[in-house]
Amino acid sequence: MIEIKTSDNNTIKKHNILTMRTENILVIGANGQIGSALTGYLSNIYGADHIIASDLRPKENHDGVFEVLDVTDAKRLDELVKKHHVTQIYHLAAILSARGEADPLNTWQLNTQTYFNVLEVARANGIKKIFFPSSIAVFGDHVDRNLAPQHAVLYPTTVYGISKAASENWSNYYYKRYGMDIRSVRYPGIISYQSLPGGGTTDYAVDIFHKAVKGETFTCFLSEDTYLPMIYMDDALRGTVELMEAPADNLSIRTSYNLSGISFSPSELTASIRKWHPDFEIIYQPDFRQSIADSWPKAIDGSTAKQDWGWQPRFDIDAMTKEMLEKLGEKYRRSILEI
Ligand SMILES: NC(=O)c1ccc[n+]([C@@H]2O[C@H](COP(=O)([O-])OP(=O)(O)OC[C@H]3O[C@@H](n4cnc5c(N)ncnc54)[C@H](O)[C@@H]3O)[C@@H](O)[C@H]2O)c1
Repeated sequence: MIEIKTSDNNTIKKHNILTMRTENILVIGANGQIGSALTGYLSNIYGADHIIASDLRPKENHDGVFEVLDVTDAKRLDELVKKHHVTQIYHLAAILSARGEADPLNTWQLNTQTYFNVLEVARANGIKKIFFPSSIAVFGDHVDRNLAPQHAVLYPTTVYGISKAASENWSNYYYKRYGMDIRSVRYPGIISYQSLPGGGTTDYAVDIFHKAVKGETFTCFLSEDTYLPMIYMDDALRGTVELMEAPADNLSIRTSYNLSGISFSPSELTASIRKWHPDFEIIYQPDFRQSIADSWPKAIDGSTAKQDWGWQPRFDIDAMTKEMLEKLGEKYRRSILEI
């Protein structure tokens, strides 16, 4: 057992490196907000040759193995699993909350059909572990919005949330019925500098940093006092791999674990940004995403994840803001120099 340092100098928990180097991990939806960061993170841990990134389109400047995959095509998925002797699948492909409302039936179809393809191909090929990302969108109405518990009655209000809640139950079903080792977290809104988010209700909390760094006024699509659960990408990635590497016997949840991070409102985030950019300006123009946010919890209780596999977030709002501003500042400065 050793301690592993990631490229951004974070230490993740001790893992058995010899066991980990024998894994071949297929990441589906690798070009998205999470996938872009996760593939590099997994490469640092398991070795770049062991990570097979895949998405609908090739990724520019991808350093490592990449396969074009539309995961609605189960046959192609099956071919890739066999070709690369895949042992684990991270299934990230989905249509997210805000975008999903534009075409509910297509969103349901894509989000659930792709997951069934993953489950069935994994079952046929004896895949050892599957990671499925769920969301705080599963809670919806009638949950304690101040601190959504691990075990809650789920009344999701978006088609995205409905598809995630159904998929959580299918994960549990495949675990119980076929003994498949499926692991999942309910991610809060994820904040990252590596790539832009893909149409979720928490996207404002990423866009705001880009505007602040560029010295522009930010128009926020949520009201100033809308609290939502969020998490910094470093914490999200570390939590994901810690869950995937936890001993199976420790896991009491086979639907999806609440992954707690931080909770804040747009006005609190603005106050944090102004510690580094005192002139930063924000205006509030809530749109249809406000009603989605109003149906979501303000914070989630991650105590079961803590109890079962030691989950502990590291980034508070100011630590996150500082790093976001630094990293995006470097990025924009580099792109100006390259012009
Ligand atoms: N980002 C967040 O804040 C957040 C929060 C909760 C849950 N999640 C979940 O995590 C997962 C990844 O989220 P993200 O933010 O990276 O999303 P994203 O929209 O940024 O990326 C999704 C990726 O999936 C790909 N994709 C879509 N359809 C596909 C198909 N048929 N075949 C193959 N690839 C396909 C897209 O091209 C895209 O690159 C999703 O399941 C999402 O629901 C994300």
